[in-house]
Amino acid sequence: MGQNVLITGAAGYIGGSVLAEFVSRTSGSIPTAKINAAVRSEDQVQSLSGLGVNVIQLDLSEEADVLETILRNDIDIVLLASDAKALTGSQSSVTTLFSEEGGWIYGEVRDTDSIFEKEKELGESHPVRQTNIVVVEEASRQGVASYNLAIPTVSDGRGSGECRKLSVSIPQYVRTSIKHKTVYRFDKDGVSSSATLVGGKSQCTNTNQSPPAAHISDLTALYALLVEKIIQQEPFPSGKNGYYFAMAHRAPWWDVMDGIAKSLHARGLVDEDRVQVWQSDKMAAEYLGFPELYVRAMGTSTGELVPVNANRLGWEPKWDKERFLESIDDEVQAVLELDTVKATVFDALKTPSA
Ligand SMILES: NC(=O)c1ccc[n+]([C@@H]2O[C@H](COP(=O)([O-])OP(=O)(O)OC[C@H]3O[C@@H](n4cnc5c(N)ncnc54)[C@H](OP(=O)(O)O)[C@@H]3O)[C@@H](O)[C@H]2O)c1
Repeated sequence: MGQNVLITGAAGYIGGSVLAEFVSRTSGSIPTAKINAAVRSEDQVQSLSGLGVNVIQLDLSEEADVLETILRNDIDIVLLASDAKALTGSQSSVTTLFSEEGGWIYGEVRDTDSIFEKEKELGESHPVRQTNIVVVEEASRQGVASYNLAIPTVSDGRGSGECRKLSVSIPQYVRTSIKHKTVYRFDKDGVSSSATLVGGKSQCTNTNQSPPAAHISDLTALYALLVEKIIQQEPFPSGKNGYYFAMAHRAPWWDVMDGIAKSLHARGLVDEDRVQVWQSDKMAAEYLGFPELYVRAMGTSTGELVPVNANRLGWEPKWDKERFLESIDDEVQAVLELDTVKATVFDALKTPSA
């Protein structure tokens, strides 16, 4: 019998694109599954109603409703592409957690390392890390396999879902630049510092690194690969070992900002094609509307992440740094064309105590 798959956040950028990818599949195991898509509002239910999937209106913060939905629809696989604090379950987490700015103190990290144990050592300092821990522990308690996809902050490209088609970071830089007629960047670009013990003394080394990145089409391909393998019951790392760095390449922020400046200036939307530097993190947070606590991590963090697990699964990203940098003008064009749905992804992070 086919498996029942539930995609949460199906009106969002990633969840909507994953849903579109699953619906478009004609071969492999995914077409044998029944796809359920969870969205928050009645309008979103309407938008997804023509896709031939079971669309469910569900507030993920209502635990009893979530449980009832899973039992009623006999769900086998849940794919969480919603707000990290909205639900504890399988995770779309974020690569910044493994950078110095995101509180990671261990330097280079492979997704095959004992990450869970290190996350436990770091404690509940970050809401997304907190969710990572809860997901593994709760899934283990329930006898459910869990997988954690760490998504790069630079996730780019036009989404293929029915509702929100824009990602978070680059579109927000574009909107902010247009609003202030100036493109800003942070004072730091792609240098990752790490302390190592050499001859009993701590030595600081700087490595040239840029933030991890992945195109939305490569991300949806990875989600599909994972679900294919789950349906086929192939053994692969899960639970405490089930971390997957969904990183295809690295994206040099300053080059990205230069590209945005040129593209917006050519359209007459900023005053100069030169990029200015934020005077402070506070200014960046205010202008961008990102939580001040995380704005530097989002705008500068690099992290010495080494992806292994996704490649072992057979993930072969089609996008690399060069192709990404050549697409910056289209990233700008996408914002001008598709910016119709308000972003809500930081609502929970802006009120950490809520
Ligand atoms: N995009 C990126 O660059 C990126 C990078 C790293 C990690 N991530 C993580 O990946 C996940 C998905 O990101 P995204 O870019 O696809 O975000 P998104 O476009 O904002 O999608 C998230 C979806 O979750 C829904 N949602 C939030 N809270 C909910 C609740 N209580 N009940 C029901 N639905 C709820 C939102 O509903 P509404 O449409 O009603 O707001 C939205 O449709 C997030 O956890 C994000 O932190 C994203």
